[in-house]
Amino acid sequence: MADTVQQESQEENAGHRNRLLAGKAFVAAFLLALIWPFTPSIEQPIQYNHQKHIAAGLECSNCHTLYENSAWAGLPTADACAACHAEPVTDSSEEAKLVQMLSEGKPLEWKQVNRVPNHVYFSHKTHAVAGEIECATCHGKMDERTAPPPAPFFEWSMDNCINCHEDRNASVDCNACHR
Ligand code: HEC
Ligand code: HEC
Ligand code: HEC
Ligand code: HEC
Ligand code: HEC
Repeated sequence: MADTVQQESQEENAGHRNRLLAGKAFVAAFLLALIWPFTPSIEQPIQYNHQKHIAAGLECSNCHTLYENSAWAGLPTADACAACHAEPVTDSSEEAKLVQMLSEGKPLEWKQVNRVPNHVYFSHKTHAVAGEIECATCHGKMDERTAPPPAPFFEWSMDNCINCHEDRNASVDCNACHR
């Protein structure tokens, strides 16, 4: 009799522990979900600062050299930075890292943040030149960014493309975007 009582209470304890563990796992998942959007999902080789370079007089096309004539905007190679950073011009540790990489001839491997799948066709020339759409409409205020964007400004879902196409009377033909 005493044995079964003890056994029952042990089972009860185990059940309680499981519920406690499940509760803890739930709280952990909840906290993770809360901080998730703020943890940088993409690490860049240099904490590049758009705001300082735009303030120094550079234009988007100085580094994103392709958009006027192609589907791609293009990310700058080390050469584009070497023009001004062969020697340090500030006491920033990020710049020191850059100067070191340049002197070793290491490539700058920027990770592309905005991306559509391979079955989707998107062209910067069509949107930024022919359509005269500002970069900021799709990328937010890059000229005010002091660090690389950890995620796209827009989620590039099919609906987000089509919503604007409907607003601006652009094509919603499947074959325009899927080719
Ligand atoms: C001196 C060079 C330079 C200039 C000028 C510059 N950029 Fe950039 N841009 C970069 C570098 C380097 C990166 C990659 C690191 C980062 O994300 O900050 C980048 C990344 C970006 C990205 C994210 C690309 C991706 O991976 O999806 C966008 C969007 C962008 N720039 C827009 C702009 C716009 C708009 C302007 C003008 C207001 C501009 N940039 C001016 C160097 C430059
Ligand atoms: C036309 C000249 C020019 C080019 C090209 C250029 N920079 Fe700069 N960069 C500057 C100037 C000027 C400053 C100092 C800005 C300031 O302190 O306000 C600077 C500052 C910096 C700093 C230190 C800023 C900070 O965060 O405190 C880094 C890092 C940097 N640049 C990275 C880059 C990278 C990476 C590229 C190539 C994608 C690049 N720069 C291209 C002129 C240039
Ligand atoms: C209509 C929306 C839209 C506009 C306007 C736009 N972009 Fe983009 N951008 C995108 C999309 C979508 C991608 C992802 C493209 C892909 O994966 O092929 C992208 C990718 C990029 C990239 C990284 C890939 C690449 O093409 O090199 C850079 C850099 C960039 N954009 C810069 C710019 C700049 C600079 C401007 C203004 C001159 C601009 N974008 C205007 C939607 C836009
Ligand atoms: C902010 C508005 C806007 C967004 C967002 C946008 N587009 Fe567009 N798109 C336009 C406009 C305006 C045109 C017509 C440009 C012109 O030729 O004058 C266009 C044209 C096009 C064309 C050429 C259509 C044809 O007639 O052949 C393609 C393809 C395209 N967009 C794909 C996309 C894709 C893919 C996305 C999402 C990743 C997207 N667009 C997001 C506004 C937008
Ligand atoms: C304005 C551009 C645009 C048009 C028009 C368009 N799509 Fe898409 N489509 C996209 C983009 C961007 C994606 C990728 C979405 C993502 O990665 O979440 C996509 C994804 C898809 C997928 C992959 C499934 C998925 O969820 O990833 C299918 C299937 C598809 N589209 C079918 C169609 C059909 C059918 C039509 C015509 C009725 C159409 N699309 C018209 C831009 C477009």
